[in-house]
Amino acid sequence: MADLSTTYMGIKLRNPVIAASSGLTNSLEDIMELEQYGAAAVVLKSLFEEEIRIELEKDLSRMTRESFLYPETIDYYDTYDVEDTLTTYLKLIRDCKQKVTIPVFASINCVTAEKWPYYAATLQDSGADGLELNVFILPSDTSQTAEEHEKLYFEIIEKVKEQVTIPIALKISYYSSNLASLIERLSKTGIAGLVLFNRFYSPDIDIDRFEVLATNVFSNPEEMSIPLRWIAIMADRVGCDLAASTGIHDGKAVIKQLLAGATATQVASVLYRKGKEYIKTMLNEIEGWMNNKDFKYISDFRGRMSLSGSENPAAYYRVQFMKHFAGKQ
Ligand SMILES: Cc1cc2nc3c(=O)[nH]c(=O)nc-3n(C[C@H](O)[C@H](O)[C@H](O)COP(=O)(O)O)c2cc1C
Repeated sequence: MADLSTTYMGIKLRNPVIAASSGLTNSLEDIMELEQYGAAAVVLKSLFEEEIRIELEKDLSRMTRESFLYPETIDYYDTYDVEDTLTTYLKLIRDCKQKVTIPVFASINCVTAEKWPYYAATLQDSGADGLELNVFILPSDTSQTAEEHEKLYFEIIEKVKEQVTIPIALKISYYSSNLASLIERLSKTGIAGLVLFNRFYSPDIDIDRFEVLATNVFSNPEEMSIPLRWIAIMADRVGCDLAASTGIHDGKAVIKQLLAGATATQVASVLYRKGKEYIKTMLNEIEGWMNNKDFKYISDFRGRMSLSGSENPAAYYRVQFMKHFAGKQ
């Protein structure tokens, strides 16, 4: 019998399929179902940095427009009670700790390292097993150098590390001018995990109404090549665990990410599309494949197809592209 257990962020997981942060990890009922269908852990829906800062300053009127990196968010917060959001979030963590046995990671969507990191300790005190920092910054400021942009990641990690002892993971996007270098340096800051990658909604334009739309909420299976490439390239160079996220829609995709060197995967879109119970099917697929290949443990094959483990490392680089377009294969 194959043993699907793995270790991610220093925590033993019963298998490598984590329910990623999404609307499906925002209530106790959903989280209990995710556990029942086999999820190894859950990452709660992200709290937004702005929500924490409003609570810390206690009074929205004292929050100036300058408190918001994106001024339009202040109008959004006028419309609902932030205090409730935080109270509900802390209660959700506490309830989860009573009702489910799988690890529960809190998640914060952040864009600065100012003020809000104090709050990380509150999430830890409520029982979160770990903290995922969803650093949601699109490098679109032309007045900023790459170094200035990247500095923020390191500041956020440093400030949050001062507040908590639970393991921290950083969830990043692949928009970086030197991704390999950034991943390597981030992985050596003392964080326990890196999630490659977050996925932004993509813009589209309605050409009849002249409106910009946010589209492609859910990923496609083909997108799993993006984390696959970077996990394979980075697996042997990082100082923390790597979790693959984006485009993982079946058990085979999980196996591929593990072969590339991930220690766990995070899934969201497939659970929206096929239902939470689909985790069971994914786990059966992984188990069947392991039995078929005579692998008893994930460590028997994990990383076997990373850049250094693979017999064809060029496939992760430009050489393959050259061969293809020169008609040499
Ligand atoms: C409806 C929806 C809501 C999401 N909300 C969050 C969130 O609050 N925080 C976060 O870090 N990621 C969020 N994500 C991103 C997912 O956690 C995941 O990283 C991304 O969707 C890629 O995985 P997938 O291809 O399996 O969907 C959300 C995704 C979806 C589809």
